[in-house]
Amino acid sequence: MVRGPGVLLLPLLAGLGAAVSGLPENLRVEGINTIYLLKWDWDYQKNPNVTFSVTKAYSLGSTWSIPEGCENITASECNVSGIDVLYRYKFLVSVYNSKTDEHNSSIATFSPLEDTVIGPPTNLTLTLQNNDLHITVMHPEAFHNSVLRQNCPWMYHLESWKTSTPTEVNAMQNIGMHFKIDAVEASTTYCARAYTKCSGGNRTGLYSKIYCITTAPRSYIKEWIIGSVFVAIIVISAILYICLCPLKRYLRHIFFPKSKLPSSIEKGLQDSPRNYIKNLFLLHEEEKTDRCYIMQNSPVDAETTMDKNSSEAKGRDSGNYSNEDDVTAATQ
Ligand SMILES: *[C@@H]1O[C@H](CO)[C@@H](O)[C@H](O)[C@H]1NC(C)=O
Ligand SMILES: *[C@@H]1O[C@H](CO)[C@@H](O)[C@H](O)[C@H]1NC(C)=O
Ligand SMILES: *[C@@H]1O[C@H](CO)[C@@H](O)[C@H](O)[C@H]1NC(C)=O
Ligand SMILES: *[C@@H]1O[C@H](CO)[C@@H](O)[C@H](O)[C@H]1NC(C)=O
Ligand SMILES: *[C@@H]1O[C@H](CO)[C@@H](O)[C@H](O)[C@H]1NC(C)=O
Ligand SMILES: *[C@@H]1O[C@H](CO)[C@@H](O)[C@H](O)[C@H]1NC(C)=O
Repeated sequence: MVRGPGVLLLPLLAGLGAAVSGLPENLRVEGINTIYLLKWDWDYQKNPNVTFSVTKAYSLGSTWSIPEGCENITASECNVSGIDVLYRYKFLVSVYNSKTDEHNSSIATFSPLEDTVIGPPTNLTLTLQNNDLHITVMHPEAFHNSVLRQNCPWMYHLESWKTSTPTEVNAMQNIGMHFKIDAVEASTTYCARAYTKCSGGNRTGLYSKIYCITTAPRSYIKEWIIGSVFVAIIVISAILYICLCPLKRYLRHIFFPKSKLPSSIEKGLQDSPRNYIKNLFLLHEEEKTDRCYIMQNSPVDAETTMDKNSSEAKGRDSGNYSNEDDVTAATQ
Protein backbone atom coordinates (compact mmCIF):
# COMPACT_ATOMS: atom_id res chain seq x y z
CA MET A 1 0.00 0.00 0.00
CA VAL A 2 2.74 2.38 -0.95
CA ARG A 3 2.21 5.02 -3.55
CA GLY A 4 5.81 6.09 -3.84
CA PRO A 5 7.64 4.14 -6.56
CA GLY A 6 5.54 5.57 -9.36
CA VAL A 7 7.12 8.92 -8.72
CA LEU A 8 10.50 7.60 -9.67
CA LEU A 9 10.36 6.78 -13.32
CA LEU A 10 7.17 5.90 -14.90
CA PRO A 11 5.60 8.45 -17.17
CA LEU A 12 2.27 6.73 -16.79
CA LEU A 13 2.37 7.58 -13.13
CA ALA A 14 3.10 11.19 -13.83
CA GLY A 15 0.59 13.75 -12.69
CA LEU A 16 -0.08 12.22 -9.30
CA GLY A 17 -2.04 15.18 -8.18
CA ALA A 18 -5.49 13.66 -8.19
CA ALA A 19 -6.19 10.17 -6.79
CA VAL A 20 -8.75 7.69 -7.94
CA SER A 21 -11.09 6.98 -5.14
CA GLY A 22 -10.23 3.38 -4.36
CA LEU A 23 -7.21 1.18 -4.53
CA PRO A 24 -6.46 -2.14 -6.15
CA GLU A 25 -6.96 -4.26 -3.10
CA ASN A 26 -5.83 -7.64 -1.99
CA LEU A 27 -2.90 -7.55 -4.35
CA ARG A 28 -1.39 -11.02 -4.66
CA VAL A 29 0.59 -13.32 -6.88
CA GLU A 30 -0.86 -16.74 -7.47
CA GLY A 31 2.19 -18.75 -8.33
CA ILE A 32 1.61 -22.38 -9.13
CA ASN A 33 4.59 -24.19 -10.56
CA THR A 34 6.10 -21.60 -12.91
CA ILE A 35 2.90 -19.79 -13.83
CA TYR A 36 2.58 -16.52 -11.95
CA LEU A 37 -0.59 -14.49 -12.06
CA LEU A 38 -0.75 -11.10 -10.38
CA LYS A 39 -4.29 -10.48 -9.20
CA TRP A 40 -6.16 -7.76 -7.32
CA ASP A 41 -9.67 -6.82 -6.40
CA TRP A 42 -11.39 -3.79 -7.84
CA ASP A 43 -14.81 -2.36 -7.25
CA TYR A 44 -15.97 -1.98 -10.85
CA GLN A 45 -19.37 -0.79 -9.73
CA LYS A 46 -17.91 2.17 -7.94
CA ASN A 47 -15.21 2.94 -10.50
CA PRO A 48 -16.07 1.33 -13.81
CA ASN A 49 -13.99 3.28 -16.27
CA VAL A 50 -10.42 2.67 -15.16
CA THR A 51 -7.32 1.04 -16.57
CA PHE A 52 -4.56 -0.70 -14.71
CA SER A 53 -0.90 -0.81 -15.35
CA VAL A 54 1.61 -3.05 -13.62
CA THR A 55 5.27 -2.41 -13.01
CA LYS A 56 7.76 -4.71 -11.38
CA ALA A 57 11.17 -4.38 -9.80
CA TYR A 58 13.20 -7.29 -8.51
CA SER A 59 15.54 -5.72 -6.06
CA LEU A 60 16.08 -2.55 -4.22
CA GLY A 61 17.26 0.10 -6.62
CA SER A 62 16.62 -1.90 -9.76
CA THR A 63 14.64 -0.20 -12.47
CA TRP A 64 10.93 -0.63 -12.79
CA SER A 65 9.71 -2.30 -15.89
CA ILE A 66 6.35 -3.20 -17.33
CA PRO A 67 5.68 -6.93 -17.72
CA GLU A 68 4.47 -7.76 -21.20
CA GLY A 69 0.72 -7.39 -21.59
CA CYS A 70 0.25 -5.61 -18.30
CA GLU A 71 -0.19 -2.01 -19.51
CA ASN A 72 -3.55 -0.17 -19.73
CA ILE A 73 -5.54 -3.26 -19.04
CA THR A 74 -9.11 -3.36 -17.80
CA ALA A 75 -8.99 -6.84 -16.26
CA SER A 76 -7.93 -7.10 -12.65
CA GLU A 77 -5.19 -9.60 -13.31
CA CYS A 78 -2.02 -9.90 -15.27
CA ASN A 79 0.27 -12.75 -16.28
CA VAL A 80 3.74 -12.10 -14.88
CA SER A 81 5.17 -15.55 -15.60
CA GLY A 82 8.26 -14.03 -17.18
CA ILE A 83 9.81 -13.38 -13.76
CA ASP A 84 12.97 -15.11 -12.64
CA VAL A 85 12.45 -17.42 -9.67
CA LEU A 86 15.76 -16.39 -8.13
CA TYR A 87 14.66 -12.85 -7.30
CA ARG A 88 12.38 -11.23 -4.84
CA TYR A 89 9.93 -8.97 -6.60
CA LYS A 90 7.92 -5.87 -5.95
CA PHE A 91 4.79 -5.40 -8.03
CA LEU A 92 3.10 -2.07 -8.31
CA VAL A 93 -0.37 -1.86 -9.71
CA SER A 94 -1.51 1.61 -10.64
CA VAL A 95 -5.05 2.49 -11.48
CA TYR A 96 -5.85 5.33 -13.84
CA ASN A 97 -9.14 7.05 -14.47
CA SER A 98 -8.82 8.79 -17.79
CA LYS A 99 -11.95 10.80 -17.23
CA THR A 100 -10.75 12.41 -14.09
CA ASP A 101 -7.09 11.89 -14.89
CA GLU A 102 -6.54 10.45 -11.44
CA HIS A 103 -3.97 7.87 -10.33
CA ASN A 104 -3.65 5.59 -7.35
CA SER A 105 -1.55 2.48 -6.72
CA SER A 106 -0.85 -0.52 -4.52
CA ILE A 107 2.29 -2.56 -4.11
CA ALA A 108 3.00 -6.17 -3.19
CA THR A 109 6.10 -8.28 -2.80
CA PHE A 110 6.62 -11.80 -4.03
CA SER A 111 9.45 -14.28 -3.67
CA PRO A 112 9.05 -17.14 -6.14
CA LEU A 113 11.40 -19.50 -4.31
CA GLU A 114 9.45 -19.25 -1.08
CA ASP A 115 5.99 -18.39 -2.27
CA THR A 116 5.54 -20.57 -5.30
CA VAL A 117 2.98 -23.25 -4.72
CA ILE A 118 4.27 -26.57 -5.94
CA GLY A 119 1.60 -27.99 -8.17
CA PRO A 120 0.24 -31.50 -8.20
CA PRO A 121 2.31 -34.43 -9.41
CA THR A 122 1.44 -34.60 -13.09
CA ASN A 123 0.73 -38.29 -13.21
CA LEU A 124 0.70 -41.44 -11.18
CA THR A 125 1.25 -44.75 -12.89
CA LEU A 126 -0.13 -47.79 -11.13
CA THR A 127 1.09 -51.18 -12.26
CA LEU A 128 0.63 -54.64 -10.84
CA GLN A 129 3.55 -57.00 -10.67
CA ASN A 130 3.65 -60.31 -8.85
CA ASN A 131 0.80 -59.41 -6.57
CA ASP A 132 2.41 -56.09 -5.66
CA LEU A 133 1.16 -52.68 -6.65
CA HIS A 134 3.87 -50.36 -7.93
CA ILE A 135 3.13 -46.66 -8.01
CA THR A 136 5.34 -44.17 -9.76
CA VAL A 137 4.76 -40.50 -9.10
CA MET A 138 5.60 -38.04 -11.85
CA HIS A 139 7.19 -34.72 -10.93
CA PRO A 140 5.08 -31.64 -10.65
CA GLU A 141 5.55 -29.12 -13.45
CA ALA A 142 7.46 -26.90 -11.04
CA PHE A 143 10.39 -29.30 -11.01
CA HIS A 144 11.11 -28.60 -14.64
CA ASN A 145 12.69 -25.52 -13.15
CA SER A 146 15.91 -26.76 -11.61
CA VAL A 147 16.08 -23.90 -9.12
CA LEU A 148 12.68 -24.77 -7.71
CA ARG A 149 13.51 -28.45 -7.74
CA GLN A 150 16.69 -27.92 -5.75
CA ASN A 151 15.23 -25.30 -3.49
CA CYS A 152 14.21 -27.86 -0.92
CA PRO A 153 14.78 -31.55 -0.16
CA TRP A 154 11.49 -32.52 -1.71
CA MET A 155 9.87 -35.82 -1.04
CA TYR A 156 6.64 -37.43 -2.04
CA HIS A 157 3.74 -38.16 0.21
CA LEU A 158 1.48 -40.87 -1.13
CA GLU A 159 -1.92 -41.82 0.14
CA SER A 160 -3.59 -45.01 -1.00
CA TRP A 161 -6.76 -46.78 -0.08
CA LYS A 162 -9.15 -49.45 -1.21
CA THR A 163 -12.44 -48.19 -2.55
CA SER A 164 -14.16 -50.72 -0.33
CA THR A 165 -12.67 -49.03 2.75
CA PRO A 166 -12.04 -45.41 1.72
CA THR A 167 -11.43 -44.23 5.26
CA GLU A 168 -8.50 -46.56 5.83
CA VAL A 169 -5.85 -44.47 4.14
CA ASN A 170 -2.35 -45.83 3.95
CA ALA A 171 0.16 -42.96 3.91
CA MET A 172 3.76 -43.34 2.80
CA GLN A 173 6.59 -40.91 2.29
CA ASN A 174 9.50 -41.40 0.03
CA ILE A 175 12.32 -39.29 -1.33
CA GLY A 176 12.13 -41.24 -4.57
CA MET A 177 9.22 -41.43 -6.95
CA HIS A 178 8.52 -45.13 -6.51
CA PHE A 179 6.18 -46.73 -4.06
CA LYS A 180 5.21 -50.34 -3.55
CA ILE A 181 2.19 -51.81 -1.88
CA ASP A 182 2.77 -55.46 -1.07
CA ALA A 183 0.35 -58.31 -1.51
CA VAL A 184 -2.66 -56.57 -2.94
CA GLU A 185 -6.01 -58.29 -2.73
CA ALA A 186 -7.72 -59.74 -5.77
CA SER A 187 -10.71 -58.06 -7.40
CA THR A 188 -10.09 -54.89 -5.43
CA THR A 189 -9.86 -51.31 -6.62
CA TYR A 190 -6.91 -49.41 -5.22
CA CYS A 191 -6.73 -45.65 -5.46
CA ALA A 192 -3.87 -43.28 -4.78
CA ARG A 193 -2.96 -39.64 -4.81
CA ALA A 194 0.22 -37.83 -3.92
CA TYR A 195 1.74 -34.46 -3.20
CA THR A 196 5.23 -33.13 -2.72
CA LYS A 197 6.51 -32.15 0.65
CA CYS A 198 9.60 -30.31 1.79
CA SER A 199 11.32 -32.68 4.19
CA GLY A 200 12.83 -29.78 6.11
CA GLY A 201 9.64 -27.94 6.94
CA ASN A 202 5.94 -27.84 6.57
CA ARG A 203 5.72 -26.73 2.98
CA THR A 204 3.62 -28.99 0.82
CA GLY A 205 2.50 -29.10 -2.78
CA LEU A 206 -0.94 -29.67 -4.15
CA TYR A 207 -2.64 -33.04 -4.29
CA SER A 208 -2.55 -34.89 -7.53
CA LYS A 209 -5.66 -36.28 -9.11
CA ILE A 210 -6.84 -39.63 -7.83
CA TYR A 211 -5.67 -42.58 -9.86
CA CYS A 212 -7.15 -46.05 -9.46
CA ILE A 213 -6.46 -49.57 -10.55
CA THR A 214 -8.52 -52.71 -10.14
CA THR A 215 -6.72 -55.94 -9.45
CA ALA A 216 -7.59 -59.08 -11.38
CA PRO A 217 -9.76 -61.77 -9.86
CA ARG A 218 -7.87 -64.40 -7.97
CA SER A 219 -6.23 -66.89 -10.32
CA TYR A 220 -6.76 -70.55 -9.45
CA ILE A 221 -4.44 -71.87 -12.14
CA LYS A 222 -1.94 -73.30 -9.66
CA GLU A 223 -4.66 -74.95 -7.64
CA TRP A 224 -6.21 -76.28 -10.83
CA ILE A 225 -2.93 -77.83 -11.93
CA ILE A 226 -2.24 -79.42 -8.55
CA GLY A 227 -5.82 -80.62 -8.28
CA SER A 228 -5.81 -82.04 -11.79
CA VAL A 229 -2.60 -83.92 -11.15
CA PHE A 230 -4.06 -85.43 -7.99
CA VAL A 231 -7.29 -86.40 -9.71
CA ALA A 232 -5.35 -87.88 -12.61
CA ILE A 233 -3.23 -89.95 -10.24
CA ILE A 234 -6.30 -91.23 -8.44
CA VAL A 235 -8.14 -92.04 -11.67
CA ILE A 236 -5.13 -93.79 -13.18
CA SER A 237 -4.61 -95.76 -9.98
CA ALA A 238 -8.24 -96.79 -9.96
CA ILE A 239 -8.09 -97.86 -13.59
CA LEU A 240 -4.91 -99.83 -13.03
CA TYR A 241 -6.42 -101.48 -10.00
CA ILE A 242 -9.59 -102.42 -11.82
CA CYS A 243 -7.69 -103.76 -14.83
CA LEU A 244 -4.97 -105.54 -12.94
CA CYS A 245 -7.03 -107.29 -10.30
CA PRO A 246 -8.76 -109.74 -12.63
CA LEU A 247 -5.46 -110.31 -14.31
CA LYS A 248 -3.83 -110.99 -10.97
CA ARG A 249 -6.62 -113.32 -9.97
CA TYR A 250 -6.33 -115.07 -13.28
CA LEU A 251 -2.60 -115.45 -12.93
CA ARG A 252 -2.94 -116.68 -9.38
CA HIS A 253 -5.52 -119.13 -10.51
CA ILE A 254 -3.15 -120.47 -13.12
CA PHE A 255 0.02 -120.63 -11.08
CA PHE A 256 -1.37 -121.27 -7.63
CA PRO A 257 -4.59 -123.30 -8.02
CA LYS A 258 -6.77 -123.31 -4.95
CA SER A 259 -6.10 -126.03 -2.43
CA LYS A 260 -8.72 -128.61 -1.68
CA LEU A 261 -12.24 -127.48 -1.15
CA PRO A 262 -13.64 -127.71 2.35
CA SER A 263 -14.60 -131.23 3.19
CA SER A 264 -18.28 -130.44 3.45
CA ILE A 265 -18.32 -129.02 -0.06
CA GLU A 266 -16.44 -132.03 -1.29
CA LYS A 267 -19.04 -134.17 0.31
CA GLY A 268 -21.80 -132.27 -1.34
CA LEU A 269 -19.98 -132.57 -4.57
CA GLN A 270 -20.10 -136.28 -4.28
CA ASP A 271 -23.75 -136.24 -3.42
CA SER A 272 -25.31 -134.54 -6.34
CA PRO A 273 -24.69 -131.69 -8.73
CA ARG A 274 -27.71 -129.91 -7.31
CA ASN A 275 -26.32 -129.96 -3.82
CA TYR A 276 -22.94 -128.89 -5.02
CA ILE A 277 -24.37 -125.80 -6.65
CA LYS A 278 -26.38 -125.04 -3.58
CA ASN A 279 -23.33 -125.47 -1.40
CA LEU A 280 -21.39 -123.04 -3.48
CA PHE A 281 -23.79 -120.31 -2.51
CA LEU A 282 -23.76 -121.05 1.17
CA LEU A 283 -21.57 -119.77 3.88
CA HIS A 284 -19.65 -122.28 5.84
CA GLU A 285 -21.77 -121.94 8.98
CA GLU A 286 -24.95 -122.61 7.06
CA GLU A 287 -23.54 -125.43 5.04
CA LYS A 288 -23.75 -127.98 7.78
CA THR A 289 -27.34 -127.23 8.47
CA ASP A 290 -28.54 -127.28 4.92
CA ARG A 291 -26.61 -130.29 4.02
CA CYS A 292 -28.06 -132.19 6.92
CA TYR A 293 -31.49 -131.05 6.12
CA ILE A 294 -31.35 -131.92 2.46
CA MET A 295 -29.66 -135.19 2.91
CA GLN A 296 -32.55 -136.71 4.72
CA ASN A 297 -33.80 -138.13 1.45
CA SER A 298 -30.40 -139.22 0.41
CA PRO A 299 -29.51 -142.85 0.77
CA VAL A 300 -25.98 -141.94 1.80
CA ASP A 301 -27.00 -139.90 4.82
CA ALA A 302 -26.01 -142.76 7.05
CA GLU A 303 -22.44 -142.12 6.06
CA THR A 304 -22.44 -138.58 7.29
CA THR A 305 -19.98 -137.62 9.85
CA MET A 306 -20.57 -138.21 13.47
CA ASP A 307 -21.32 -134.70 14.48
CA LYS A 308 -24.21 -134.53 12.09
CA ASN A 309 -25.89 -137.68 13.23
CA SER A 310 -27.97 -136.34 16.02
CA SER A 311 -29.64 -133.70 13.94
CA GLU A 312 -30.22 -136.05 11.09
CA ALA A 313 -31.74 -138.53 13.43
CA LYS A 314 -34.02 -135.89 14.80
CA GLY A 315 -35.04 -134.93 11.34
CA ARG A 316 -35.81 -138.43 10.48
CA ASP A 317 -37.77 -138.89 13.69
CA SER A 318 -40.01 -135.96 13.08
CA GLY A 319 -40.80 -137.30 9.70
CA ASN A 320 -41.27 -133.90 8.12
CA TYR A 321 -39.17 -131.05 6.82
CA SER A 322 -39.95 -128.51 9.46
CA ASN A 323 -37.50 -125.79 10.26
CA GLU A 324 -36.97 -127.33 13.63
CA ASP A 325 -34.12 -129.20 12.13
CA ASP A 326 -32.55 -126.03 10.95
CA VAL A 327 -32.87 -124.44 14.31
CA THR A 328 -31.56 -127.44 16.09
CA ALA A 329 -28.74 -127.89 13.72
CA ALA A 330 -27.86 -124.19 13.86
CA THR A 331 -27.60 -124.35 17.61
CA GLN A 332 -25.06 -127.15 17.40
C1 LIG B 1 -5.95 5.98 -3.11
O1 LIG B 1 -7.25 5.54 -2.71
C2 LIG B 1 -7.44 5.50 -1.31
C3 LIG B 1 -8.79 4.91 -1.02
O2 LIG B 1 -9.79 5.51 -1.74
C4 LIG B 1 -7.34 6.94 -0.76
O3 LIG B 1 -7.51 6.96 0.62
C5 LIG B 1 -5.94 7.47 -1.11
O4 LIG B 1 -5.82 8.81 -0.73
C6 LIG B 1 -5.70 7.41 -2.61
N1 LIG B 1 -4.35 7.72 -2.91
C7 LIG B 1 -4.04 8.80 -3.57
C8 LIG B 1 -2.61 9.02 -3.86
O5 LIG B 1 -4.87 9.57 -3.89
C1 LIG C 1 -14.90 5.30 -20.22
O1 LIG C 1 -13.93 6.10 -20.86
C2 LIG C 1 -14.05 6.07 -22.27
C3 LIG C 1 -12.93 6.91 -22.83
O2 LIG C 1 -11.73 6.71 -22.20
C4 LIG C 1 -15.41 6.61 -22.68
O3 LIG C 1 -15.52 6.55 -24.06
C5 LIG C 1 -16.48 5.78 -22.01
O4 LIG C 1 -17.74 6.35 -22.29
C6 LIG C 1 -16.31 5.78 -20.53
N1 LIG C 1 -17.30 4.89 -19.90
C7 LIG C 1 -17.92 5.21 -18.79
C8 LIG C 1 -18.91 4.19 -18.28
O5 LIG C 1 -17.69 6.23 -18.14
C1 LIG D 1 -1.14 3.21 -22.00
O1 LIG D 1 -1.63 4.54 -21.69
C2 LIG D 1 -0.59 5.50 -21.68
C3 LIG D 1 -1.19 6.82 -21.26
O2 LIG D 1 -2.55 6.84 -21.39
C4 LIG D 1 0.05 5.60 -23.06
O3 LIG D 1 1.11 6.54 -23.04
C5 LIG D 1 0.60 4.21 -23.45
O4 LIG D 1 1.09 4.24 -24.77
C6 LIG D 1 -0.48 3.17 -23.38
N1 LIG D 1 0.11 1.89 -23.64
C7 LIG D 1 -0.50 0.97 -24.34
C8 LIG D 1 0.25 -0.28 -24.54
O5 LIG D 1 -1.60 1.18 -24.83
C1 LIG E 1 1.05 -17.01 -18.62
O1 LIG E 1 2.19 -16.96 -19.45
C2 LIG E 1 2.86 -18.20 -19.62
C3 LIG E 1 4.09 -17.95 -20.47
O2 LIG E 1 4.69 -16.73 -20.19
C4 LIG E 1 1.94 -19.17 -20.28
O3 LIG E 1 2.59 -20.40 -20.38
C5 LIG E 1 0.69 -19.33 -19.42
O4 LIG E 1 -0.22 -20.16 -20.09
C6 LIG E 1 0.05 -17.96 -19.22
N1 LIG E 1 -1.05 -18.16 -18.28
C7 LIG E 1 -2.22 -17.54 -18.42
C8 LIG E 1 -3.26 -17.83 -17.42
O5 LIG E 1 -2.40 -16.72 -19.32
C1 LIG F 1 0.10 -41.09 -17.15
O1 LIG F 1 0.97 -42.16 -17.33
C2 LIG F 1 0.41 -43.24 -18.05
C3 LIG F 1 1.44 -44.32 -18.07
O2 LIG F 1 2.71 -43.85 -18.32
C4 LIG F 1 0.05 -42.78 -19.44
O3 LIG F 1 -0.53 -43.83 -20.14
C5 LIG F 1 -0.92 -41.63 -19.34
O4 LIG F 1 -1.21 -41.12 -20.63
C6 LIG F 1 -0.35 -40.54 -18.48
N1 LIG F 1 -1.35 -39.51 -18.29
C7 LIG F 1 -1.07 -38.24 -18.43
C8 LIG F 1 -2.20 -37.31 -18.16
O5 LIG F 1 0.04 -37.84 -18.73
C1 LIG G 1 4.99 -23.64 8.79
O1 LIG G 1 6.01 -23.44 9.75
C2 LIG G 1 6.26 -22.08 10.01
C3 LIG G 1 7.40 -22.04 10.99
O2 LIG G 1 8.32 -23.01 10.74
C4 LIG G 1 5.01 -21.43 10.55
O3 LIG G 1 5.27 -20.06 10.74
C5 LIG G 1 3.89 -21.59 9.58
O4 LIG G 1 2.69 -21.07 10.11
C6 LIG G 1 3.68 -23.04 9.28
N1 LIG G 1 2.68 -23.16 8.24
C7 LIG G 1 1.76 -24.07 8.32
C8 LIG G 1 0.79 -24.10 7.19
O5 LIG G 1 1.66 -24.86 9.24
